Amino acid sequence: MNYELKEGFGSKIGAVLASAGSAVGLGNVWRFPTEVGNNGGAAFIFIYLICIAVIGIPVMMSEFVIGRHTRTNTISAFAKLAPGKWWRIEGVAGVFVAFLILSYYIVISGWTLFYLVESLGGQLQAGRDYSQVFNDFVSNPWQPVLMGAAFMGLTHFIIARGVQSGIEKSSKVMMPMLLLIIGILVVCSFSMPGSSEGLRFLLKPDFSKITASVILSAVGQAFFSLSLAMGCLCTYASYFRADTKLPKTAVGVSTIDTFVAILSGFIIFPAVFSVEGVSVDAGPGLVFITLPHVFNIAFSHLPWLGYIFSSFFYLLLLLAALTSAISLHESVTAYMLEAFSISRRKAAAAVSISCMTLGVACSLSFGVWSDLTLFGLNIFGLFDFTASKIILPIGGIIICLFTGWYLDRKLVESELTNCGTLRFRLFRLYYFIIRYVAPLAIAAVFVQELLA
Ligand code: PHE
Repeated sequence: MNYELKEGFGSKIGAVLASAGSAVGLGNVWRFPTEVGNNGGAAFIFIYLICIAVIGIPVMMSEFVIGRHTRTNTISAFAKLAPGKWWRIEGVAGVFVAFLILSYYIVISGWTLFYLVESLGGQLQAGRDYSQVFNDFVSNPWQPVLMGAAFMGLTHFIIARGVQSGIEKSSKVMMPMLLLIIGILVVCSFSMPGSSEGLRFLLKPDFSKITASVILSAVGQAFFSLSLAMGCLCTYASYFRADTKLPKTAVGVSTIDTFVAILSGFIIFPAVFSVEGVSVDAGPGLVFITLPHVFNIAFSHLPWLGYIFSSFFYLLLLLAALTSAISLHESVTAYMLEAFSISRRKAAAAVSISCMTLGVACSLSFGVWSDLTLFGLNIFGLFDFTASKIILPIGGIIICLFTGWYLDRKLVESELTNCGTLRFRLFRLYYFIIRYVAPLAIAAVFVQELLA
């Protein structure tokens, strides 16, 4: 295999930061704290950590194996490894689901951009009715669309510049910035009165809270948060160098992702607990409705600190969203440019324009098109349901079965040990998990979610 034919990441650290950028996203800063709040705090975190270690890391390694071995986009990767076989469908599903998710991911990302602008303009400090601010904004026909378009523009700009000078370079700037902001916010949050109650909620597990549905939510969250089964990490792995250590990279990326998720909890809950009468299980509104309210009250004695805290927080959310959106975009762009032999600029433009068109429909489904429903879901809900509840879990199972049962064991081992030059002592454990444990666990989640 000629590793030099295609443009790839220039350094190992670039590969880790770009993949971590894909993993760290709204799922960490927005969805994880919501799930923790809904599922009883520390007990959920405990189960989540087990899911990351036992299922998340092995599945990520499998995606890396498929991507780096074939050095091509996800659709061609499956077609190359299993010519003429139905396994190829998984490649198509991965790219399709990345496209679908990107079209609604930009909507929420547009909201974070709006909140950042509002916060910087001092608008979130005015002691307004935040629930109304949020509802007025999302149901407005053009404002969220413009914000989503601006966000898409940023994503497009980075993708059009290419793998090294676009994705890798921007990840090397944005990821350290993101980690720095998290550090600053954690310190601010700890200094709030009442923060110890928030810490207790996050650190002291009450094991009686663990139920089947808590476990299943943890598996689902782990999958989403690590960007698994969407062709993103597979595409990025096709840019890895021959000497990149796959098991080590998977552990590194998962560690950064988990670290950011837990620290986001450390930022949000001490703040939430320091304000009386605010509930921790506010659901998706936690970040857009509860938090501005909390920031205002918690920092009422030091408004300038509240201004800094909230601006940094929405900047954090925006950076996290951007690095993830880039990976979703690249999953589709890589396919377009290789399959149709067109330039990167053209491929990227086609993806941006078509995703934005769907994005407009998703955005309008919070306002003027909210009556347009199918099975009781609006357009946004329908996209999310199809992608995360149906295609993703099935995709996860197929990736496990493909690597564990279809691919030659020697090929998998050779890729994970860089042709035998590295030691990977846990290979047998990995192989056992990927053949039995992971597919069964994901299947359990899938069935439960559908019945729920
Ligand atoms: N992992 C991202 C998050 O935590 C979401 C995502 C999924 C990004 C799939 C890219 C691909 O928000």
